[in-house]
Amino acid sequence: MLYKNIKKKVFTKIIIALDYSNEKKALNLIKILDPQIYKIKIGKEMFFLLGIDFVKKIINLGFKVFLDLKLHDIPNTVFKAIISLSKLNLWMISVHALGGKKMMEFAKSAVSYFQKKPPLLVAITVLSSLSEFDMQELGIFNTINKQVLLLLKLSQKVGLDGIVCPGNSVKYIKNSLKKNYKIITPGIRLEESSLNDQKNVITPEQAITYKINYIVLGRIITCSKNPLQVLKKINSLIMK
Ligand code: C5P
Repeated sequence: MLYKNIKKKVFTKIIIALDYSNEKKALNLIKILDPQIYKIKIGKEMFFLLGIDFVKKIINLGFKVFLDLKLHDIPNTVFKAIISLSKLNLWMISVHALGGKKMMEFAKSAVSYFQKKPPLLVAITVLSSLSEFDMQELGIFNTINKQVLLLLKLSQKVGLDGIVCPGNSVKYIKNSLKKNYKIITPGIRLEESSLNDQKNVITPEQAITYKINYIVLGRIITCSKNPLQVLKKINSLIMK
């Protein structure tokens, strides 16, 4: 409960990736979070496990929810998938920029069908688990930074609301960012924490320096024996 009351204004906000293998564990974490401070990201693991009812439950507890399904399909399918979510009061949803301009345009038009306020629509650029070598293996010969920039520009052309990108690319794209375009960065690690499958990680202090709007905290919280202590540490770093 201790960290329910951090009211100081901070530039970089926290999104918690609620990646758990069962509802009980997820709700145990939710219980100790203040919805005024933390946004919740529900990804494929919990969505496939518990579906829309679970998303509604978290929204009804007062949290802003980022439904991170990273949609990537033909434009019509992405359009219809987003329409299927239109009764939910979502805060943010994601599509892969690599689905192409037309797919992003269809996604953009689908969010206008939401019954409440349309969710923010963000584009995944380069997954922070990919290295330059992995990109080449996929036939992408741009550097990670160049690829993020290219996809940022494309998503801005379509008029999305932001991008998800590795923290280390932010310096490289800052000059091309339109006003109010949101940057969301996963792969946040404290000096002492393990990388897991992430290749491109930054610390909370770097997130502040790079003026990242939202950092996504996943395993650093969900695999911690003491999530509150980790949150306390991260809050103290981003409030400096
Ligand atoms: O901190 P951790 O590595 O566990 O964070 C991983 C979370 O961030 C997962 O929910 C993953 O889906 C998400 N994510 C990512 N890379 C992206 C977009 C989202 O790791 N480009």
